[in-house]
This record gives sequence, C-alpha cells and structure tokens, in this order.
Amino acid sequence: MTAFTINGRAVDVTAEPGTPLLWVIREQLKLTGTKFGCGIAQCGACMLHVDGEPVRACVFPLSGAEGRSITTIEGLSEDGSHPVQQAWVELDVPQCGYCQSGQIMSAAALLARNPRPTNAQIDDAMSGNLCRCGTYVRIRAAIHRVAES
Ligand code: FES
Ligand code: FES
Repeated sequence: MTAFTINGRAVDVTAEPGTPLLWVIREQLKLTGTKFGCGIAQCGACMLHVDGEPVRACVFPLSGAEGRSITTIEGLSEDGSHPVQQAWVELDVPQCGYCQSGQIMSAAALLARNPRPTNAQIDDAMSGNLCRCGTYVRIRAAIHRVAES
C-alpha cells in the first residue's frame, strides 16, 4: 500500500512499488488528463507535480509517491481558472492538445519558482516538453502573458 495525496485528496494505492505513477493515476485513480506519450522520459506529456516540482510520471515509481503531495492538471484549478490555463485559452495555444497538459504543468512549475522568466529561462524550463504541432512560440507568449499579469 502506498499512501499519498493527489489534488488535495488522500489516497491509498495497492500496486507494485515500481509501477510508474502514470499508470496508477490514469488506470486506478482515473485521472486521465496526464498523458502517455513516449514512456521513456523524452516528451513531457506525462508531466505532473510532486511537492510542487515537475516530474515525468512515466518514469516515476509509485514508491516515490509515498507521503508526497501530487498535483495533476485536474488539480491545478477546479475550473480552469489557474492563470496559466487562462493564458493558454486567451492565446489559443493548443492545436491537437495532446502535449498541452504536460506543457501547462511545466509552465506552472516554472512560474511558481520564477514569476518573470526570460526567454532563455522559459526555453530551458520547457525543453523537456515536446510539441509535434509546434506550438512553442505561443507557449512562450502565454508564459510571458502570465508573468505580466
Ligand atoms: S510519456 Fe513521460 S516523458 Fe513521454
Ligand atoms: S498541441 Fe499537438 S502535440 Fe502539442
């Protein structure tokens, strides 16, 4: 049994300790906003927060979640009102959308630790999130929009 908090809710999960956290949150906890892309820590589609830090859930073992506070895209806000989510909507960032929950989670973590990031800092922080639709320019603009607001 592994006990942790997810989006403010205490849960106990029974699974092998090495099970990727991504499978647990999607299959057992039914939180499907966090996506499976590559499964090998290369794309960032599975990004969530562990104690506020961005983490790739596809390579993060369930055992690592013990006693921690996990936040997924569903927990960023109850109604899409998080400033990053609002900026994403205002600037029409997504195309197919598949990568975007991971992008938003990385951007939210960046802005939490650095409220006014430079372009270089944005590119560095977002370098682990791939977008096959090429929305990078709008992602950067949306992060600046949040920083200015
Ligand atoms: S699915 Fe985790 S980084 Fe690609
Ligand atoms: S919006 Fe399609 S992969 Fe990023």
